[in-house]
Amino acid sequence: MQYQNILVSVENGIAVLTMNREKALNALNRQTMEELKAFFETDAHTIEGLKGVIITGAGEKAFVAGADITEFQGFSAEDGKMLAKRGQDTFFSIERFPKPVVAAVNGFALGGGCELAMACHLRIAGEKAKFGQPEVNLGLIPGYGGTQRLIQCIGKTKAFELLMTADMIGAEDALRLGLVNYAVPAGEEVAKAKELIEKIATKAPVAIAKIIESVTAYFKEDVDGFAKEVDYFGECCGTEDFVEGAAAFVEKRKAAFTGR
Ligand code: CAA
Repeated sequence: MQYQNILVSVENGIAVLTMNREKALNALNRQTMEELKAFFETDAHTIEGLKGVIITGAGEKAFVAGADITEFQGFSAEDGKMLAKRGQDTFFSIERFPKPVVAAVNGFALGGGCELAMACHLRIAGEKAKFGQPEVNLGLIPGYGGTQRLIQCIGKTKAFELLMTADMIGAEDALRLGLVNYAVPAGEEVAKAKELIEKIATKAPVAIAKIIESVTAYFKEDVDGFAKEVDYFGECCGTEDFVEGAAAFVEKRKAAFTGR
């Protein structure tokens, strides 16, 4: 797909996807959501030797300041439902992506921006990061999974507080609450995200994909995560990488995984 609002660059097998509507603090308008969907459902799967994806925001100020509020005017209840359903589906495709997806949060991550970060597998917060779900200020609730993933990330007690007060929290609080994996100096978010992806890329790719599927299964009500783990463990045992990993351990050498 030809992108207008996101930039994608690939270097050393790591795709950096930059949300690129700086003047609107990278707000997620309809077009941007279509582009994210196309990237995670189609385009990213064609990148040769992909190790992982980093999502970050253009400019100094914002990761993503939420859904584009200017598109909400004149919205009916039905329009709202469709927007939320489409947005959730797009974020599911990020959560289900078989390689690590890391949010490098360089500024405001509000509303849909916080939800986008939470749909990623890992989150790095720079010093300027500000997280929040301010939808109640607009007479709304989060629509891209925020009421569910915030509880998953930080627990019900603090999730209720952030969702009902619309308070913003900075990188240190986000780290303390378990909303992010690391807090780093401003400007170092992408470098830290790359470091994590490089480390994960030394592991067996099928096992990493199955970790993503297993952990995601935990949060699906209609899925028995323990049963999934049994299936995926079996699938991993059937891979060449398992043979290689076990042999490398016994031979006291580094495993050379191929993803088969
Ligand atoms: N949608 C559309 N435009 C936005 C935007 C958004 N979510 N957030 C910021 N912008 C625009 C502003 O309108 C402004 O545009 P103009 O220069 O044309 O006036 C520009 O970005 C810069 O923003 P500010 O001048 O407001 O910058 P600031 O530093 O004073 O404030 C801010 C920054 C606190 C992030 C403030 O912009 C803000 O509160 N933004 C809205 C945040 C929000 O409510 N997000 C939730 C959206 S709803 C949602 O996401 C629902 C969902 O779950 C799907």
